[in-house]
Amino acid sequence: MKQISVIGVGYVGLVTAACFADLGNRVQAVDVNEKRIENLKKGILPIYEPGLEELVERNMRAGRLSFTTSYARGLKGSEFVFIAVGTPSGENGEADLQYVAAAAKSIAENMTAPLIIINKSTVPIGTGDLVADMVKRAQPKQIPFAVVSCPEFLREGTAIADFMNPHRTIIGSLDPAAAEQVAQLHLPLRAPIVITDLRTAEMVKYASNAFLATKISFINEIADICEALGADVKEVAAGMGYDKRIGPAMLDAGIGWGGSCFPKDVKALVYMAEQHRVTPHILNSVTRVNYDRRKAVVARLSKLTGGLKGKTIGLLGLAFKENTDDMRDAPSLTVAHELLAAGAIVRGCDPVAVEVARPLLPGVELFTDPYEMASGCDAIMVISPWNEFKQLDLKKIKGLLKSPVIFDTRNIYNPVEMKALGFKYRSIGRGFNGG
Ligand code: NAD
Ligand code: UGA
Repeated sequence: MKQISVIGVGYVGLVTAACFADLGNRVQAVDVNEKRIENLKKGILPIYEPGLEELVERNMRAGRLSFTTSYARGLKGSEFVFIAVGTPSGENGEADLQYVAAAAKSIAENMTAPLIIINKSTVPIGTGDLVADMVKRAQPKQIPFAVVSCPEFLREGTAIADFMNPHRTIIGSLDPAAAEQVAQLHLPLRAPIVITDLRTAEMVKYASNAFLATKISFINEIADICEALGADVKEVAAGMGYDKRIGPAMLDAGIGWGGSCFPKDVKALVYMAEQHRVTPHILNSVTRVNYDRRKAVVARLSKLTGGLKGKTIGLLGLAFKENTDDMRDAPSLTVAHELLAAGAIVRGCDPVAVEVARPLLPGVELFTDPYEMASGCDAIMVISPWNEFKQLDLKKIKGLLKSPVIFDTRNIYNPVEMKALGFKYRSIGRGFNGG
């Protein structure tokens, strides 16, 4: 059993804290957001993540997991502290390090014993050195510490399983003893451990996210070509995915990637490259291909419905993907704004993201029940591929719609079945089958 502190109780911090507690460690989680901490003490979570509530509750009850707004209390007795605060996009696409800097300063001011500071936030290359400098300068008296980079690769919606079964653990440090201790902490996860220097570990995270985003933009470009040539991108992706060098993951064509990570991380990598006079040709194209899609689907819907003015359009799914309430850079936001600008009446439906979406989508009528939303719509657009949308009673939906139009931007339905049901159905990159 080790004693660990985690700074930040968002998607990564809370999962990290709960999972390390579940592995038998004592974890103290610290956040500056008083409301979040107050609620967590009562068992109310700040985010939706499947399975997390039960994990948090179980470990709190067992006395292994606690929450505080006090760094002094949160750091007391810990050997390790994970920084898991946000690193959103700054004005020019760079990662905004204000929360990491504030966390580093608070750690320095409140640590009372030697500490290994582990950066789990996704941070620009060189941030580990920066954090070391900041801590050294802010310490009231010199206490030994080491800085280690241990980037996180979990996905929202499957965060607990991803955390507990990582494909690899990356540990970057200039201090071999500290790297070894962090490696020991991760041994129960039984994943290959790669130990590098600090900067290399930081780069592994950006390169991984950028590569995954590239894979999606690639299949989306292939989808457009499929559509023009009459091939089916779903089957093309399946056929490609059997090649072990390609793999089947991240080949779902659709409306493109969004969320709290790919958008900001690709931007930050572009920024870092350009700052060092490297032109990131591929990353620039990957971004353009991605964001062009959001407008292209609206233009296509307009054709399908014979114009958007005065039409009622229902968006099925608002979160940036299924199984999360995260609305950061969700495609639904761009689509809703484009539709409103074109004079459409816009409705949106999501199983869990409605309350997070409400302030972001003024002028959009929000529902949690897809049938209620569908009633009287001129068309439905599938935006996030929630499982429960895949199992809808489509006959009933057809009866509720003013006209039976469905534009499935995630390819969750079968074109042949949709046609048989009498829908005017369009999807992405399935030229021959109603793409
Ligand atoms: P988040 O916005 O959900 O949570 C950040 C938390 O940090 C908030 O609760 C906030 O109140 C808290 N915070 C901010 N400043 C603080 C401070 N000085 N001291 C204590 N707490 C503070 O962020 P997130 O989505 O969990 O992302 C955290 C980091 O992890 C980012 O760098 C992100 O890129 C990276 N990451 C995220 C994911 C993901 O799926 N969300 C996956 C891998 C990596
Ligand atoms: C992503 C990475 O997958 C994680 O490894 C990483 O830790 C995380 O970013 C991060 O750094 O925060 P996440 O954003 O939670 O995780 O979700 P993904 O499942 O990767 O999906 C990202 C976006 O791509 C979503 O909008 C999703 O709908 C879209 N996507 C995903 C596709 O369009 N096609 C696919 O085949 C897969």
